[in-house]
Amino acid sequence: MSSTLKLEGKLFGGAMLFLTLCFGMTVYAVYKYGIDLPTCINNVEAFTKSEVIERAPKHYEIHYVARMWAFEPAVINVPPGSTLDIYLNSVDVTHGFQIAGTNANLMAVPGAVNYTQLTLNKVGEYKIVCHEYCGLSHHNMMATINVTENAAAANAAMESAQLAPSADEAEGAKLLESKACLSCHTINGSPLVGPTFKGVVGKEETLEDGSKVTVDDAYLAESIREPQLKLVKGFPPVMPKIPVTDEEIRKMIAYIKSLK
Ligand code: CUA
Repeated sequence: MSSTLKLEGKLFGGAMLFLTLCFGMTVYAVYKYGIDLPTCINNVEAFTKSEVIERAPKHYEIHYVARMWAFEPAVINVPPGSTLDIYLNSVDVTHGFQIAGTNANLMAVPGAVNYTQLTLNKVGEYKIVCHEYCGLSHHNMMATINVTENAAAANAAMESAQLAPSADEAEGAKLLESKACLSCHTINGSPLVGPTFKGVVGKEETLEDGSKVTVDDAYLAESIREPQLKLVKGFPPVMPKIPVTDEEIRKMIAYIKSLK
């Protein structure tokens, strides 16, 4: 009996020693190497809209929204030496968030806001990538932080050109996924059961009866509602009618159009 107790005591001592060691190494990493520990914070409510707030010159607060399959804001421009307070939230599934070439590495978890801070001194393009598999287009999930002396001008130019993908496109992508369209239509250019969505808008297709059609909004909308009506030659008549609203069709087409 007493030997069991002794063994327990030893194991407990060993476990405590191990814990202390782990904690010590973490503290050492933070102070010696300045490695930021990602924190899950509970004093910021989950948000669904992205935002860039300039708190002070060269001090930005950025609210990143992760969704299938984009980060918003997709592009931001900041001057060198900027400190970024990054808040991250997901509106669908769990995504990864890593700023390549930096220590910034977070998880985007639906309903929880994660936070990290970093300072970018070197001019250049920093890519944000998703490092958690999150579905078909996981590998396309990216964003950019541009560190440039002309940040203000770049931001102004971007605003007028609206480079960021619209909310419609993002929602359209989600609809195509949730209604299982993407199990037969790829977004990478290779045909599957049906034609690919990539580059399809504006394309001339030959139909089953030999006639030609140029793929536009009207053709896409018609084909979503009545899949068998004007089949593209060489594809089987297997697409089911799926319940969709006009609004949903509009968003799906917005996304398909973005796949150039
Ligand atoms: Cu988001 Cu992978």
